[in-house]
Amino acid sequence: MASSLRIRSAPRWTAVLLLWAALCCLFVPVVMVKQHDFKKCDQSGFCKRNRHLADTAAASSSWTAPYALDAASITFKDGQLSGTVLKTPKEGGEKVRLPLTVTFLESGVARVTLDEEKRQKGEIELRHGSQARKERYNEAGKWALVGGLKVAEGAALSEKAEKGYTKVFYGEAGKHQAVIRHEPFGIEFQRDGETQVKFNDRGLINVEHWRQKVEKPAEEKKEGEEEKKEEEKKEEEEEEKGEDESTWWEETFGGNTDSKPRGPESVSLDISFPGYEHVFGIPEHATRLSLKTTRGGDGNYDEPYRLYNADVFEYEMDSPMTLYGAIPFMQAHRKGSTVGVFWLNGAETWVDVTKAKTSANPLSLGTKGHTDTQTHWISESGLLDVFIFLGPTPADLTRQYGELTGYTAMPQSFAIAYHQCRWNYVTDEDVKDVDRKFDKFKIPYDVIWLDIEYTHEKKYFTWDPLTFVNPTKMHNHLDKRNRKLVAIIDPHIKNVGDYPVIDEIKKKELAVKNKEGGLFNGHCWPGDSMWVDCFNPETIKFWKALFKYDSFKGTAPNTFIWNDMNEPSVFNGPEITMPKDNLHHGNWEHRDVHNINGMTFHNATYQALLERKKGEIRRPFVLTRAFYSGSQRSSAMWTGDNLAEWSHLEASLPMVLNQGISGFPFAGADVGGFFGNPSSELLTRWYQAGIYYPFFRGHAHIDTRRREPYLAGSPYTEIITQALRLRYQLLPAWYTAFHEAHTTGAPIIRPNFWVHPDDEAGFAIDDQLYVGSTGLLAKPVTKEGADSVSVYLADGQPYYDYFDYTTYQGKGHHTVPAPLEKIPLLMQGGHIIPRRDRPRRSSGLMKFDPFTLVVALNKEGSANGTLYLDDGETFDYQQGAFIHRRFAFDGKRGILTSTNLAEGSRTAKLDAFLKSMARVRVEKIIVVGAPKSWKGKKEVVVMEEGAKESARRKKVAIEFFEGKGKQADWAVVRDPKVGIGRGWKVDFLG
Ligand SMILES: *[C@@H]1O[C@H](CO)[C@@H](O)[C@H](O)[C@H]1NC(C)=O
Ligand SMILES: *[C@@H]1O[C@H](CO)[C@@H](O)[C@H](O)[C@H]1NC(C)=O
Repeated sequence: MASSLRIRSAPRWTAVLLLWAALCCLFVPVVMVKQHDFKKCDQSGFCKRNRHLADTAAASSSWTAPYALDAASITFKDGQLSGTVLKTPKEGGEKVRLPLTVTFLESGVARVTLDEEKRQKGEIELRHGSQARKERYNEAGKWALVGGLKVAEGAALSEKAEKGYTKVFYGEAGKHQAVIRHEPFGIEFQRDGETQVKFNDRGLINVEHWRQKVEKPAEEKKEGEEEKKEEEKKEEEEEEKGEDESTWWEETFGGNTDSKPRGPESVSLDISFPGYEHVFGIPEHATRLSLKTTRGGDGNYDEPYRLYNADVFEYEMDSPMTLYGAIPFMQAHRKGSTVGVFWLNGAETWVDVTKAKTSANPLSLGTKGHTDTQTHWISESGLLDVFIFLGPTPADLTRQYGELTGYTAMPQSFAIAYHQCRWNYVTDEDVKDVDRKFDKFKIPYDVIWLDIEYTHEKKYFTWDPLTFVNPTKMHNHLDKRNRKLVAIIDPHIKNVGDYPVIDEIKKKELAVKNKEGGLFNGHCWPGDSMWVDCFNPETIKFWKALFKYDSFKGTAPNTFIWNDMNEPSVFNGPEITMPKDNLHHGNWEHRDVHNINGMTFHNATYQALLERKKGEIRRPFVLTRAFYSGSQRSSAMWTGDNLAEWSHLEASLPMVLNQGISGFPFAGADVGGFFGNPSSELLTRWYQAGIYYPFFRGHAHIDTRRREPYLAGSPYTEIITQALRLRYQLLPAWYTAFHEAHTTGAPIIRPNFWVHPDDEAGFAIDDQLYVGSTGLLAKPVTKEGADSVSVYLADGQPYYDYFDYTTYQGKGHHTVPAPLEKIPLLMQGGHIIPRRDRPRRSSGLMKFDPFTLVVALNKEGSANGTLYLDDGETFDYQQGAFIHRRFAFDGKRGILTSTNLAEGSRTAKLDAFLKSMARVRVEKIIVVGAPKSWKGKKEVVVMEEGAKESARRKKVAIEFFEGKGKQADWAVVRDPKVGIGRGWKVDFLG
C-alpha cells in the first residue's frame, strides 16, 4: 500500500473509496497526483523569500552578503575553528551574532555549523503562548550520525594566509585546505591547491534571525478586488522599505494555518562546484540521476528540488517535487574528481540547481570551456550544518558518508529474494492458496505480505477474527518452505475505546502533541488516530513491548514488519501530513524534525524485532516508505505508490540507482506498478527489471486485478519464472554485494559513472546498471514493443552475453537483442561470478546447495571475484562466522585460486559455521573467453588445502566448446568437488 484516494472526514470512506475506484476502472484512471495538495516554492514563505534574495543578488552588480566573520573571535583548538559571524540586519540596529564552528575530521571531511546566539541562549519570546523550544533545532546529528566524527589531529592553521582570510590545512598529508574569507563570510574548500567547493560564492547566505513581531494597527477589512489591490500595494511598499513580512508570522495553505510561534527562521546557503558539470543525489525525486537545473529554460525545471517527506500518491514523472523520503546528500562529479556536501537538517528543504558555462578563451591557448554547477540550499529552520567531502573518487564519498550515517544493515538472506505483496491477501486461506500456487507453478518466492486489511478494524497488533482466523497455522504453513510473512504496522493508532494500545498511548502521552500541548488527533486509515512519537524513549520502550510474541499474538519468528505512511501521512493535515506547529518529545516543533520523524519510527520497529523473545537473535527486516540519512541502518525502502505505466518502470532505475549512491541502497520499486493494471508485456518487463532492484517486491493496489506471476498465462508466466530464477541463481552475488555495501558503503547496483569515474561520455547514463563488483551489466527493457536495447560499454574489455556468451567489445553503444523472453545482461571480462544453479522454491532451501563459478576472462585472459557467505539469519557473522573468499584466475599461469579474505581469528562461532558448510562444494566452473589452446584438453589438476592425502591432487574433466560467430569460446570443469570454504587451486595447464 498504501495511500489511495482520500475522502476527507467522510465516515463511510471505505464505501465511497470503493465506489470511486470502481468508477475509475470504468473510465480509465486519469487520477494523477493532486498538484494543489502540495506547495510550490512560492507557496512556502521561506522558500519564496530565499529565492527572492537570490534574484535580488543576481540582479545587482554590487551585491554582498551582510555577513562577516569577526577576526578577533577566531580560535583554533583540537581540529576545530570557532568564531562569530556578524550579520548586519537590513532594518539596522544591533548586529546579529552567529556562532560558527568549522570542524576538521580525521576522514578528511570538514563540517561547518552556524547557530544564532540569541536563540541558542533562549533570549527570545515565542508567540501564541507556545511551549516549543526556543533554540534552533540542534539534534539532527543525534539521529543521523553514528560515527566518523573523530577530529583530525593534523589539522593546522596556516601562518601564511592573506589578510582578511584564515586558512586551515587538513586531510591526508594536509592535501585539503579550507580558505575562510572573513568579509563577506565565505569558505573555499581546496584539494591539492584547487578549489572544489565554494560556500557563499554568490552571497546568498541567509540566517533569518529572531525578531519581535511589531503589531500593526488592525486595518478595516476590505473586500474583493480592493483588498487584493491594497495587499499588492502593501507588498510593494514593504519591498521598498526592505522586507516583505507577509509570510513571517503565519502561513495558511489548503485551509490549514501554521502559527509559526518562532517567526521566520530559515537558513540558506549557496554552494558552488567549480568545474563540475554533473551533480547527483538528494533523493527522493522521480527524476534523472544527473540532476537537471531548476531555474527554468528549455527542458529544465522551474521549481527547486524539494525535500519534505510526503505521501505523494500516483506521483508525477520527471519532476523535482518532493516524495516520501529525504537524503540531503549531494555529490558533484567530473573526470578525476568527485566531491560532495551533506546538509544535515531535518526541516523542509529546497535546493535550486543552476549551471554556469564558461566558454573557452580564444586568446589564451589551452583553456577549455567548463561548466560550474551552483546550488542553493534553503531550509525552514534548524542550524546551518554542512559536511564537505573532497573525494576524490565516488567510492570515497559513499564510504565517508557511510562512516557518518552508518552503512546499510546486513539483511537476512531471505530479504534479498523475491517478495510477493498485494493490498490485500484477504484471508489466511488466501495466503496459503497463493503459497501453494507458487509451488505448483515452480516459481520461487520467499515472502508474502499483508497490507492493512488483515487487522481487526485497522487496529494494528490485531488480526481480523473473521478473515485471519488462524494466523499461527498460516505462519507454520509458510515456514515449511522457509518462507516469511511481512505484516504492515503504521504509526497512526486508531483512537477508539476498547483498544489497549491507544489507552496506554493516551495514559503515558506517547503520541505527538498539538501546538497547545494536548495529544494530536488526525485522520488516517483507521479514521480518528494518534501518531506514536518515537523521539520519545518511553515510546520506544512501549513500542518494543508490543511486538513480543505474547503481545502481538499470532506472529512468529518468521513474521517481519512493513512501516508505511510514516512521512507521516495525515489525511486531513496540511499537504497530507502533520501541522508544523505540532510538538514532539522535548518540545521540538514538528517543523524541525519532519524529515527525521519517519526514521525514528522504523528504527523503533527494528529495535522491537530484535527483542521479540529473549535469546532469539535474528536480523530484523523492516520496510519503510519515509526515510532520512541513517535509515539504511535499520530498513529497506521502496519508492512508494507508483503507476502501472512504462514511464514508471523507466523512472524506477535512476531512482533506485540514486538511492545506491546516496547511502541507502536497499531499495526497490513496486514491480508491476501499484496503481492500475499492467499489460502482460509491461508486467513481464517489470519483473525482468525488478530482479535488479536490491529490494525486489511485486505489489498491487486493492482495485487492481490479481497479478501473481502464475496468473499471467503462457508465455508470460514462464518468462517471469525465468527472470525470478535468474535472481535466485545470482543470490550469492547479490549477498556479496550487500556485504560490500554493509562494510564499505558501496552501492549495490551501480551507475556507470560510479564504476567508470573517468569516462566522461557515461556520466549521465542512468538506464543501465552494474550489480555490485561482479561486472554484471544489465540494461532492462523499459519500452513497449522493444526487441533490442542499446547498451553502453565504457571500456575496451570484452562483455559477454550472460546466457549465450556472444561477445561485445569496444567503447560505445552496442545493440543487444532483447525479445520478450530475453533479459539483456552482460558480463564484463575480468570477473568471477558466484551462483547457485539449482532451481528451488525459496532461498532458504538453497542454503546448502553447491556453487557454480563463472570466470569471464578479460583481454589479458585474467579474472577475479569475491564471495561472501554467512548463516543468512543471525548476527554470528559479527563474531567471525562467515566465509569470505577471493577467486582469481591468472591467465599467464592458467591457475584459478580460492584464497581467504576473512582476516579474523578462529572463533567457536566460525568453526561451527565452517562445519555446517563443510559439504558445500563448487560443482561447476565455466570459463568464458577460454583460450583456443585449451581445445582438445581433457583434464585439469585440482589441489585442495586440508583434503585427505589421496584427494589433495586430483584430475578432473574439462570440456572445451568452440563459439560460433560472435560467441566466445568457453570451457566447463565439472564437479571439481572443492569446498566453498576452503583454499584450493585449479591448474588448467597442468
Ligand atoms: C534507534 O533506536 C535506538 C534504541 O532505542 C536508539 O538508541 C537510537 O537513537 C535510535 N535511532 C534512531 C535514528 O531513531
Ligand atoms: C581483479 O580484477 C580487476 C579487474 O579486472 C583488476 O583491476 C584487479 O587488479 C584484479 N585484482 C587482483 C587482486 O587480481
